[in-house]
Amino acid sequence: MRTDDFDLPLLRGSQFIQHLEFHESISSTNDRAAMLAAEESLPCPALVLAREQTAGRGRGSNRWWSIPGSLMFSLVLQGQPNQQGPAQWPGFSLVAGLAICEALAAEGKTATFSVKWPNDVYADERKICGILIESPAQARGRLIVGVGVNVNNSFAEAPAELQSTATALCDLDDQLHDLTGVLLRILKRLDVRWLQLQSDGFDSLREEWSHVSLLTGRTVQLQVGPHLHVGRCTGIDESGALKLQTEHGAETFHAGSIVRFD
Ligand code: BTN
Repeated sequence: MRTDDFDLPLLRGSQFIQHLEFHESISSTNDRAAMLAAEESLPCPALVLAREQTAGRGRGSNRWWSIPGSLMFSLVLQGQPNQQGPAQWPGFSLVAGLAICEALAAEGKTATFSVKWPNDVYADERKICGILIESPAQARGRLIVGVGVNVNNSFAEAPAELQSTATALCDLDDQLHDLTGVLLRILKRLDVRWLQLQSDGFDSLREEWSHVSLLTGRTVQLQVGPHLHVGRCTGIDESGALKLQTEHGAETFHAGSIVRFD
């Protein structure tokens, strides 16, 4: 098996995806998805998939290690007409992490998969997937969900600063994984959870999210702008905000970046 091959005809047969674009090499699938989202006639969900990115982006100013063998794609999603599409989107950020965690757990049997708030997926104590959710002005209110999963891009070859903090599916079990199979599994779980979110709301998924929460019970440092908040994580509230027991008492945070957890 090639480490970086995709079965495009199989992907085109997916019930979930209404439009598929594949790039051998692109700067960032999220940037391309934002351009596509500006087209009113775009059938959604649309999938932009790449074998390689030359300027893969992470949250904030982070970059994403984007070599062939990694699974990198962006989805353009549209809320259902007459439903609370955009209102559900803070929930969707968390639900996307849950769905991908479930898909990867079915693929990599040798590790425990969990979600680090809001939606990084971890295999044991290392990051294996990052999600970048954006809704730029030109996207017509649509949501862009960028996903990077380390699949066959072994961290033995990664930049030194990443080697101790991240991992890939192939590093967990010393096997190559079928990128198309991993992608289809992820799309299936996203579809299921996205429908559930739209029909039942985020609260119906909160308990399931809590079962895969990496941070609950741990001491966390959360950076919010210039402020560092330290506390024991007690989970998430009904809106998906992170709950911390800090020296000031129980506090909730809707945004921020986890800079450390013990
Ligand atoms: C993060 O962990 O900070 C988010 C990483 C998201 C990376 C993916 S790879 C596909 C898509 N295109 C990008 O430029 N970024 C996302």
